[in-house]
Amino acid sequence: MKSAKPYIEKNKERFVDELVELLKIPSISADSTYKKDVLKTAEAVKKQLKKAGCDTVEICETPGYPIVYGEKLIDKKLPTILVYGHYDVQPPDPLDLWESPPFEPVIKKTKLHPEGAIFARGSCDDKGQMYMHVKALEYMTETDQLPCNVKFMIEGEEEVGSSSLEWFVSKNREKLANDVILISDTGMIAKDVPSITTGLRGLSYVEVEVTGPNRDLHSGLYGGAVANPINILTKMIASLHDENNHITIPGFYDDVENLSNEERMKMAEAPFNLENYEESIGINSVYGEKGYSTNERNSIRPTLDVNGIWGGYIGEGAKTVIASKASAKISMRLVPNQDWKKITELFKNHFESIAPKGVRVKVKPHHGGQAYVTPIDSLGYKAAEKAYEATFGKTPIPQRSGGSIPIVSLFEKELKSKTILMGFGLDSDAIHSPNEHFGVWNYLKGIETIPQFYHFFTEMSK
Ligand code: BES
Ligand code: MN
Ligand code: MN
Repeated sequence: MKSAKPYIEKNKERFVDELVELLKIPSISADSTYKKDVLKTAEAVKKQLKKAGCDTVEICETPGYPIVYGEKLIDKKLPTILVYGHYDVQPPDPLDLWESPPFEPVIKKTKLHPEGAIFARGSCDDKGQMYMHVKALEYMTETDQLPCNVKFMIEGEEEVGSSSLEWFVSKNREKLANDVILISDTGMIAKDVPSITTGLRGLSYVEVEVTGPNRDLHSGLYGGAVANPINILTKMIASLHDENNHITIPGFYDDVENLSNEERMKMAEAPFNLENYEESIGINSVYGEKGYSTNERNSIRPTLDVNGIWGGYIGEGAKTVIASKASAKISMRLVPNQDWKKITELFKNHFESIAPKGVRVKVKPHHGGQAYVTPIDSLGYKAAEKAYEATFGKTPIPQRSGGSIPIVSLFEKELKSKTILMGFGLDSDAIHSPNEHFGVWNYLKGIETIPQFYHFFTEMSK
């Protein structure tokens, strides 16, 4: 495979313009107000996949948002790569913290992106990274170098739990048959430190509600004599961690696989600067489970975090009231071997059991998914390693990420294939936050590296 560099150099303005067009459509899967836009984005992805060289592209209807499926099958005897990505994005809130509107992409220079970065919701997660694959396909078909078969499956519900994809995969095992799955929806350590994500955490997401009196009460007349749901909820939540920041739910750690000292030492070799880390997010000290480093806490250890909490009066001024209800949304990040359904059950039983008399507690499970780890001696990993070596001139570092793409473990179960996670975003790209951006350099480097993966994977499969 020839270097894609000259082709990219010639076409880079168009590559950026096309992504900008895609980013203008607010495909927010969580908010039904944007339904038309989500559907419009699927159509736009379909059109671009066709243009880039897919022989067939279809919009596959599901009980939820459609899946865009495309393929170019050149020879049954050659390997097949299945590319997965998502065209939906997170809600942009809080809007007032954006320096430019989330769906009016602008290119600005930053310290880490002196070549410019595209600021828009979805620029990195995942429209920008997904679109690298579309442009890589364009390069390979335009220059007659596509070395193997390729299938694309781009979904519109990743940010809300991929439930339709689960349904789709179980119904289309044959159509989706492949030799390796390729995803760019993660990050890398730094622009000069390429890395391949070898693990993702699982997830259990729940909502809890504490109910006390049958109506909001005057906090003077009743205060002190009845359980205040907000006081109780916060107390219950606080009790979920002990003084060492271990999670106190009985059985929570039972299935956690402990890494060997050797594996932990290997992990510690990855470049990491604690001061820069603290400075980049404006904290004066890190915080977490005793006995583990920051990089371990955010990747190989399970966690429990409140994502949102509400109840009572939050308007202007003061209102003296004991609210009838208080609620919270809680996520638990899980590690390999922990079963998300079992953890959800453990949480539910424990949380209900610690409720004092005087309140009622409801636990409503949301979505979840299993963690994923991939070995570094697989064909796919080796091919990815060679691809990075070809375009970065460096061997990438294997790194387990703290984020979740629950569908990846399901792919392994249903399609029996390994996933290779070639991410090109940086942690500082602010995914899910205001001012999300994606470096133009990263975007083009991804387009350059992906065809090399196709090449090495096909060669090594022989
Ligand atoms: N692309 C992210 C996951 C990610 C980002 C993994 C960076 C590793 C590094 C994905 O879109 C995402 O946000 N996933 C959710 C879970 C999902 C079920 C809503 C997450 O991790 O919170
Ligand atoms: Mn994503
Ligand atoms: Mn995301």
